[in-house]
Amino acid sequence: MKRKVTKAIFPVAGQGTRFLPATKSVPKEIMTLVDRPLVQYAIDEAREAGIKEFIFVTSRGKSALEDYFDHAPELENTLRKKGKTELLETLKSTNMESGAIAYMRQHKALGLGHAVWCARRLLGNEPFAVMLPDDVIAGPESCLKQMVEAYEETGGNIVAAMEVPDAKISSYGVLDVAEDNGSIVRTKGMVEKPDAGTAPSNLAVIGRYILQPTVMNHLNKMKQGTGGEIQLTDAIAQELTDGRDVFGLRFRGQRFDCGSKAGFLQATVAFGLARDDLRDELTEYLEDLHTLRTAAK
Ligand code: UTP
Repeated sequence: MKRKVTKAIFPVAGQGTRFLPATKSVPKEIMTLVDRPLVQYAIDEAREAGIKEFIFVTSRGKSALEDYFDHAPELENTLRKKGKTELLETLKSTNMESGAIAYMRQHKALGLGHAVWCARRLLGNEPFAVMLPDDVIAGPESCLKQMVEAYEETGGNIVAAMEVPDAKISSYGVLDVAEDNGSIVRTKGMVEKPDAGTAPSNLAVIGRYILQPTVMNHLNKMKQGTGGEIQLTDAIAQELTDGRDVFGLRFRGQRFDCGSKAGFLQATVAFGLARDDLRDELTEYLEDLHTLRTAAK
């Protein structure tokens, strides 16, 4: 019987330099798409997938994140007195049961693999999920839930994968495909940020993983990879060397790279257009903008 995936690690200890100066004092994960911080999208996706324990790997300057998941008695009282029940309801999704959330500190940003390793003592000997909140995935079904369902069939390790054009593939971890079954691919290798023209495929890994505890054994070795960082991709690739499976899942949904400015802006528009209370006004604005631009040509 496969162990259920009930724990997720959220590595949020990066410095978010692409969003400076904002990220000097605001953690990237607290930046807002419409009215919800990035991290809320990840938590909702995890809850839908059956995750019960949420482990954040944080760093200095991330206290806004801890406050976000705490109760806010004064605010709640004010809303209650004013009869704002809808807002009170919205706030509930930000509360975590006592003991359901844990924070580990990564003292130095040594890489994503190192951040995941920092959570090792909280995991026990069971499979776990890793979610990067700056990858936001829109769609009717939770991406992690799709991965959990695939995992129940395949076991092993699973990464979320999507096709990326040649010009962009060198920015990602890339799968070397052994067998392609449509939505699930079996891999025979993985490379982090391959040099231009050397990528083994166009299937890029994005920030969702279901991993076996054995991945921690590889991370224990603290081997530096691309960019001098301890790479999660390298530790997952080691699983293949040890004879364990690594699959890629072509998930259903649209992924926004909210760690980049262009991706963040696109997500803001997309999530705005998805909202009943904003769609008409935003559409009108975008159409006007389009007319103006075409008129100016
Ligand atoms: P990024 O590569 O996006 O780095 O990390 P970053 O620091 O967040 O942002 P930029 O590139 O400087 O703008 C991908 C994910 O891995 C986490 C980040 O917090 C982010 O969720 N990470 C990265 C860590 O937790 N620790 C690290 O040492 C590196």
